[in-house]
Amino acid sequence: MKRIGLLTSGGDSPGMNAAIRAVVRAATFNGLEVFGIERGYKGLIEGDIHPLGPRDVSGIINRGGTILHTARCKEFMEPEGRALAAANLEKHGIEGLVVIGGDGSYQGAAKLHAEFGIRCIGLPGTIDNDIGGTDYTIGFDTAINTAMEAIDRIRDTANSHDRIFFIEVMGRRSGYVAMISGIAGGAEDILLPEVETSVEMLIERLRTGQKRGKKSSIIIVAEGCEYGGAMVLAKRVSDQSEYKDNRVTVIGHLQRGGSPTAMDRVLASRMGVHAVEALIAGEAGKMVGVSGQQLQLRPLSDAWEQRTRFDMELLRVAHVLSV
Ligand code: ADP
Ligand code: F6P
Repeated sequence: MKRIGLLTSGGDSPGMNAAIRAVVRAATFNGLEVFGIERGYKGLIEGDIHPLGPRDVSGIINRGGTILHTARCKEFMEPEGRALAAANLEKHGIEGLVVIGGDGSYQGAAKLHAEFGIRCIGLPGTIDNDIGGTDYTIGFDTAINTAMEAIDRIRDTANSHDRIFFIEVMGRRSGYVAMISGIAGGAEDILLPEVETSVEMLIERLRTGQKRGKKSSIIIVAEGCEYGGAMVLAKRVSDQSEYKDNRVTVIGHLQRGGSPTAMDRVLASRMGVHAVEALIAGEAGKMVGVSGQQLQLRPLSDAWEQRTRFDMELLRVAHVLSV
């Protein structure tokens, strides 16, 4: 193998640049050429492909976002789009492809491999931490720290005004960001897509806390919750209880940016090197995952077939500590 391609796809995440840097540096170290593909599968179909050398990735390990940009691409969902993509890889003599993205991007990579024999390796890049086959995804640690810092700031003003705050965090259909940032932020309650909680139950818990002397409360709401977000939930609590003076903060895309934490930089660096070494070793149709401290190669399909739920012990910890 002499030439590999590299793209970032789907929602961006802090640490993607560290992964890009690691892939380019590891490929250079092993005598391979790297081609950067702009804007994910969209750029691959359009042939927006350019060489990437070791100096092109200087000074990016600490930058959020992705220098290759990313996009969502409907055309790639169709066989015709994927055929154009494969032809562009062929035109550039690219034999292997590293795809940095979430499970949707992996489904595309798996089809490139199955339909055209393109040797793909996936790196788990998403803040949601909702990919099977790995304990952690690149960007998750940074996102939960961003959310935790926001929760700390909100707690200051909630305490000043004896208010209830509903704070909405990202995670798509996963409650992982909400669970971890909620425990780290000392939230009184955490509402998750994975756990059914009625508005009445939430109001009861607020009353119990008040009886125990709580003057203010922080409620973390995962965006994928059944209520349709923190705004809707806050209104329902206000309409259905004496808790009228509540406020809402939606952290939103702040969780997608920022300089990656050391954990994300090191995870991305390790995974990038591992991906290149896997391609050289002849691997294909796999993802790089981490289990404990160990990196491992798993079938790409594990990403959506082995989706791990977080340990519900975390929910018990959050409940106990909110007494
Ligand atoms: P993520 O990778 O973060 O889950 P998406 O689900 O938006 O992000 O997927 C990113 C891109 O991957 C899509 O825009 C599309 O081009 C490609 N993709 C996603 N799912 C599939 C699929 N089932 N088949 C082919 N391509 C897909
Ligand atoms: O998948 C990452 C993510 O940030 C989700 O947590 C969120 O729901 C989604 O992307 C937002 O997508 P967009 O950036 O297209 O609005």
